[in-house]
Amino acid sequence: MTGGTNERARWLEQLRWQVEMGADEAIAEAPVNRLAPMPQAAPAPSPAPAAQLDQAAQCRTLEEIFAALDAMADFRLRRTATHTVHADGHPNARVMLIGEAPGRDEDLRGKPFVGRSGQLLDRMLAAIGLSRQAEDPEKAVLISNVVFWRPPGNRKPTEAEVNHCAPWIARTIEIVDPAIIVCLGATPARVLTGSTQGITRLRGNWLDYPLNGRAVPLLPTLHPAYLLRQPLQKRLAWRDFLSLKLRLAETGK
Ligand code: URA
Repeated sequence: MTGGTNERARWLEQLRWQVEMGADEAIAEAPVNRLAPMPQAAPAPSPAPAAQLDQAAQCRTLEEIFAALDAMADFRLRRTATHTVHADGHPNARVMLIGEAPGRDEDLRGKPFVGRSGQLLDRMLAAIGLSRQAEDPEKAVLISNVVFWRPPGNRKPTEAEVNHCAPWIARTIEIVDPAIIVCLGATPARVLTGSTQGITRLRGNWLDYPLNGRAVPLLPTLHPAYLLRQPLQKRLAWRDFLSLKLRLAETGK
């Protein structure tokens, strides 16, 4: 290898490392004043899940949940994220879809599933007559994640991060009281059902989510980001979405 080629390889390696660490943008949308005093000299550790449970239980509306999450300054992911990514769609939707955690596009826009995987998800929903923009709750969905802030570099959220957010997604589900829940990928399926089975086995099998004395039908399916990487698997996801359409037609509430 020549000196120039070596140099190039070293630069590429450094760039790759920066992307892995989450530094994947040259500029952000708004300037960051890195010299401004920190709100707290020594950030307190994340409150224990019990404290999160108490705080989440006090919320009565989605707006109260959003305000409480916006005010949660001492959570590590919160400090590296641009936005808190709140649920998007109809607050009384019959179908609630839950993903893992925001990616780069979601972090920049503050909305779940707005990047390439979100666009695929929107098309899949449209194919069965559902939309997050629909005004009719029968045709509407609400989309959220089990973690509300982007993990740096799009890494998987840790167990502690998922546990910290769990009371908030549980309370969101209680408030929305959906007829059907769809889990996009293994992480939300594990958080909401406790199942540690791989998603390729779990997908397409209807499970129950206990809510206010009833069992809400819950469908685990493949994550749209996985479908973008493995387009042949779209036929399985399509099967799941058809099953969702059928179940929705049969389900009262
Ligand atoms: N992937 C997720 O799981 N959630 C998003 O909001 C975007 C991508």
